[in-house]
Amino acid sequence: MKKFIYEYPTKVYFGEGVVRDHLAEAVSGYGKNVLLAYGGGSVKKNGIYDEVKSVLEGAGKTVFDFFGIMSNPTYAKVQEGARLAKDHGVDFILAVGGGSVIDCCKIVAAQGKTGEDLWEMEMEKHQYPAEVIPMGAIVTASGTGAEMNGGAVITNDEKKIKTGMAAAAPRFAFLDPEYTRSVPRMQVISGAFDTLSHAMETYFGNSDADNVSDDVALAIMRNTVTNMRRLIRDIDDMQARGNLMWDSAMAENGILKVGRVTDFQAHQIEHQLGAYTDCNHGQGLAVIHPAYYRHIAKDAEEKFVRFAREVFHVDSAQAGIDALTDLIRESGLPARMGELKSRVEITPQLLRQVADTCNIIRTNPRELSRDEIYEILMECM
Ligand code: NZQ
Ligand code: ZN
Repeated sequence: MKKFIYEYPTKVYFGEGVVRDHLAEAVSGYGKNVLLAYGGGSVKKNGIYDEVKSVLEGAGKTVFDFFGIMSNPTYAKVQEGARLAKDHGVDFILAVGGGSVIDCCKIVAAQGKTGEDLWEMEMEKHQYPAEVIPMGAIVTASGTGAEMNGGAVITNDEKKIKTGMAAAAPRFAFLDPEYTRSVPRMQVISGAFDTLSHAMETYFGNSDADNVSDDVALAIMRNTVTNMRRLIRDIDDMQARGNLMWDSAMAENGILKVGRVTDFQAHQIEHQLGAYTDCNHGQGLAVIHPAYYRHIAKDAEEKFVRFAREVFHVDSAQAGIDALTDLIRESGLPARMGELKSRVEITPQLLRQVADTCNIIRTNPRELSRDEIYEILMECM
């Protein structure tokens, strides 16, 4: 194990009815003005908005709406939220949505406290926000685990970069599986695949073979696969939704990462693919993962064999990757670039740009060259 310091800032409320029962108490310690943030309108249709707003108002809060946060949230949308937060003297930000709404709010929380351009501060000066508006999250679509960490993934449309930024960690997270009931089937599955990817990307980082965090990561992978299969059979299986909701949080709350380095190369490739195409995050990962793993399997053979045995109950590295590919097909996730919903045509030239601009991770089983990333992407065509 490497040296580590672990501290956990987010209080979690899990289970049916937690918003109704505990939200007033969770926001009681913060000021009066609350920015209530949400996406394109699902929360208005399924009644979540009304429930949250009535609890907030019942708790004496003045509520200002910040809406229309898109999937793959943009830096321009962050600026809109920060202006609202400043104009209304917002004391607390409540993100109600999936990873996109939560991530956008994490950066609004920081940008709302400074006149400095946060992108420039973080990307160019390598400085990080000293002060943030406190924020909390109510998860309506699970998978990213964004509700339990202090990072946010933001797309800078002008610069054509989608990348992680350091931001506010939610003070609390509400996880009610019932709140995910109306999520479209494909989003439920792609969210679950994102969770599986987080655990795999953590596990395949180049660290000691007998790290306790590996055992925990393998357990999360197994549970995620089992519950994805339950949902393939019955998408309304709420026990499976609940398990996946906690798998999602567990995969990204830092527990799997203690004492080890991680990989996350597939994520870096997917994020840049997203910057160019605006594709769905979990679906982009489903396309990239098998090809990436075929390239690095030889560099971490023992870990791949263990993954194959413990997650998919098969006996070789190659059989494990094949089983992962089968799971992707079986779930109806896209397996090729042409199956992704993209705002532009995905051409070899576009994939060359993705390969030339994505971050390269040095702690994966083997550092990839840009040409090899291009090769991997072309194998997904
Ligand atoms: O916008 P609305 O109308 O709410 O619709 C959303 C959206 O279209 C819909 N939805 C959410 N809850 C719903 C619902 N529809 C019906 N009923 C509900 N209860 O679901 C769609 C997708 O939502 P989105 O938040 O975009 O999905 P997801 O949770 O997968 O988040 C994706 C974003 O998170 C980033 C991704 O890169 C992407 O930008 N990630 C964040 C991470 C983090 N901060 O730790 C880690 C991840 O690796 C990931 O990169
Ligand atoms: Zn992810």
